[in-house]
Amino acid sequence: MCGELRASDAGKKAILMGWVNRRRDLGSIIFIHLRDRTGITQIVFNREVNPEMHAKAETLRNEYVIAAIGRVKLRDADTVNPSIPTGEVELVVDELRILNESKLPPFLPSDTALTNEETRLKYRYIDLRRDAMQFNIETRHKVAKAIRDYLSAQGFFEIETPFMTRSTPEGARDYLVPSRVQPGAFYALPQSPQMFKQILMISGFDKYFQIVRCFRDEDLRADRQPEFTQIDLEMTYPQPESVWEVVEGFLDAAFKAAGYEIQRPFPRMDYDEAIRLYGIDKPDLRLPAFSDVRDCFPAENLQELAINPNLPVIAIRTPKVGELSRKERDDIKPMFHSKGGARVYEDFKRIGNKFPEAAAAIAKKTGAQPDDLIVLVAGSAQAGPQTAMPAHRKVTPAELAIYASAGLLRLALAQKYAERHKLFQRGDFRFLWVTNFPMFEWDESERQWMAAHHPFTSPHEEDMGLLEQGVESVNDPQSTLSAVRALAYDVVLNGTELGSGSIRIHRQDIQSKIFRALGMTEAEAKSRFGFFLEALEYGTPPHGGIALGLDRIVMILAGAESLREVIPFPKTARAVDLMVDAPTPVSETQLRELGIQVKPVKQ
Ligand code: AMO
Repeated sequence: MCGELRASDAGKKAILMGWVNRRRDLGSIIFIHLRDRTGITQIVFNREVNPEMHAKAETLRNEYVIAAIGRVKLRDADTVNPSIPTGEVELVVDELRILNESKLPPFLPSDTALTNEETRLKYRYIDLRRDAMQFNIETRHKVAKAIRDYLSAQGFFEIETPFMTRSTPEGARDYLVPSRVQPGAFYALPQSPQMFKQILMISGFDKYFQIVRCFRDEDLRADRQPEFTQIDLEMTYPQPESVWEVVEGFLDAAFKAAGYEIQRPFPRMDYDEAIRLYGIDKPDLRLPAFSDVRDCFPAENLQELAINPNLPVIAIRTPKVGELSRKERDDIKPMFHSKGGARVYEDFKRIGNKFPEAAAAIAKKTGAQPDDLIVLVAGSAQAGPQTAMPAHRKVTPAELAIYASAGLLRLALAQKYAERHKLFQRGDFRFLWVTNFPMFEWDESERQWMAAHHPFTSPHEEDMGLLEQGVESVNDPQSTLSAVRALAYDVVLNGTELGSGSIRIHRQDIQSKIFRALGMTEAEAKSRFGFFLEALEYGTPPHGGIALGLDRIVMILAGAESLREVIPFPKTARAVDLMVDAPTPVSETQLRELGIQVKPVKQ
């Protein structure tokens, strides 16, 4: 292969096949960098030695595919190329075969300046030839293999579940596949194998996993694709800790396969605590947590600053950013999005000048170093605590509004200053388990409760009373449903949700109650999930599991900004595959067979 020859191979005959990465024509000598998946070797054509092959080499252009047969030769000391592993040798070519020509590509795999992403996606086969993409796809393979090997060794069976199935409720829209045999009926592509994996537990396969494609028609972002891959698993009789141990085990194996050691066990944090300390349920632990510095101010200071004394005063500390200029302070304001009644105090120096004692107490409480940036977020005394945030067990809606506003600002600040102040180190992987999520979230537009995870998640045993009481008032945002905790957990890495899971409901009566809490009548529940509710009645063992996004794991490992960098053939933000040009209209015949008539849709 093109990346394999070393000094010790000098004198050997070799045959290399690959793409012309670069051609340097010095007149009587032509150097070609020949490339394949493993690397690059320099091959040489000398007119004096072999005029026929030299003449043929003159016709070579970038991305031609060739075979070169020749002898490995040590390079002269002054022409050694230390930047490539084969840099001590070159291949002196006796015979050149041109296996295929190439049109002039729209960009070259060796180009360092990236061309625009649309062109990269349209000509993905050229883009994938680039070193960075080859590395990402190789990492993806290694990670998937390590996980598969680990889980198999732990006694998990990989079992396939259908792609043409019924709707699975994971909170997104379904991709539908029309049936030709039953016109007007549709399969849904799975948003996850959730119900099938639970049924596999009922079927006696007590440890299941699958590295599986899932499909969701939802608003796309850098970390969301319409089709993506989950590492999905389920097991019988687990405590949450049993699931966590398996996940930590396979992540350890996966990160090792990619060349990184990780710290285990992962720390654990209650959802409530995550909100209080980070204002978000997926905290990035690489940056300091919030401090509530309300106590650092005497009451009259708070009054003067028009701060509501009944709500937290959050200090966000961003290390190393230093004092901000007037303009930078102005830039912070538009970065702040108040979730209701929250205000930002970006001029900490002024607060310090006015209230030196409070500022000193804040510096102490936050552990601020002199070059750290402190920004305060507090409840505005004028606006009062009115907010649309949901009711919640321990954190009031007004408090939640402050925490959530501060949480978003904390991340925006980190993002703004990350590069300039080197806030994040490559290879710093900070995992976290977030647990005890609320079971339900109030949806104001639908005016009903929604499952915060999915409706198959078990409530806490201690909160069953609250559930019983809550199902009697399912249209009330103040219902006790707000206080029911779920036996659900997320695994978070550096501020990204890698995976979600839960202990499931294994009793039909509780499952029915949850459907009721979600505003579903018995008839509706039966028509959507009848098969599942029935299965629950035939000896269902307690079970639980989790699913992690493989694409997200690889994205973070590869240091990539978007899932598109680690998926061979991804879709754009508009869910389009630019290479094959999908989706497309279909023929009249196909539509007729399916009994489908297409009408314009108002977006
Ligand atoms: P959830 O919906 O949280 O849980 O998904 C689990 C993980 O899958 C990844 N993920 C995505 N990755 C890329 N693009 C998307 N559109 C996308 N959506 C989700 C994320 C996420 O954490 N059935 C449950 C799991 C369970 O309870 O066992 C489920 O699917 O990394």
